[in-house]
Amino acid sequence: MPLLEDSPVVVAVIGSERTDGDTAAVVRSCEGLLEERGVRLETVMLAEQTMVACGPCGGCNFRDSRCVIDDDVPTIVERLISADGIIYAVPVHGFGTASLLQTFIERAGVGYLRFDRPLANKVGGVIVVGRRYSHLDVVSQLYHNMMLNRMLLVGSGFPAIFTTEAGRPPLDDAEGVAALEAMLDRMAEAIWLLREHEQAFGRRMKVSDSSERAS
Ligand SMILES: Cc1cc2nc3c(=O)[nH]c(=O)nc-3n(C[C@H](O)[C@H](O)[C@H](O)COP(=O)(O)O)c2cc1C
Repeated sequence: MPLLEDSPVVVAVIGSERTDGDTAAVVRSCEGLLEERGVRLETVMLAEQTMVACGPCGGCNFRDSRCVIDDDVPTIVERLISADGIIYAVPVHGFGTASLLQTFIERAGVGYLRFDRPLANKVGGVIVVGRRYSHLDVVSQLYHNMMLNRMLLVGSGFPAIFTTEAGRPPLDDAEGVAALEAMLDRMAEAIWLLREHEQAFGRRMKVSDSSERAS
């Protein structure tokens, strides 16, 4: 399907320090697969952004305004808000989510997303790359985070995880590749369905205004 100026966009947030590493290779492979389905892939390489960790102020627990730290996080959040779909792609580090993506999730979550959940109804996907251990722990965390943000997760079979033990290139993991293709296929289908529904009926899926913030 040819890409047009207003084609749907999926933004992949890459949480590896290695800008040309295994996670980046998997994300690169998504471009053609999405394009075949009329969806454009854009990427945010967190390693190339200016991003600091949450500080000790705790101010976002009490105020209704956004985080005051001056770095690239608000620009990335705006890109996600403009997207139709979002993929978090990350290596496993220390049995968990690698720190760049963890930092982004913390900063974006409490500093920007908790107020009015602007990522609601974005179609979500998760890619996890690691040598051998704890991929599913990371998948679960990221799924929960997407659910918290009222995103839409479309079941597509096994999760898109890639094992790279013994230096195996991630795309040699045939089962991972099959799961990734199934995920992208379902994400694109859901994105188009939502868009067509909105065009036909002029209405988006409603989001309740209840808040998870402690009162
Ligand atoms: C600091 C660090 C911690 C790691 N911890 C794990 C781990 O707990 N489980 C695992 O399977 N792989 C672990 N790995 C291996 C990476 O996840 C794996 O090499 C991955 O393919 C790297 O992806 P990248 O090239 O995108 O960074 C670790 C790697 C590093 C550098």
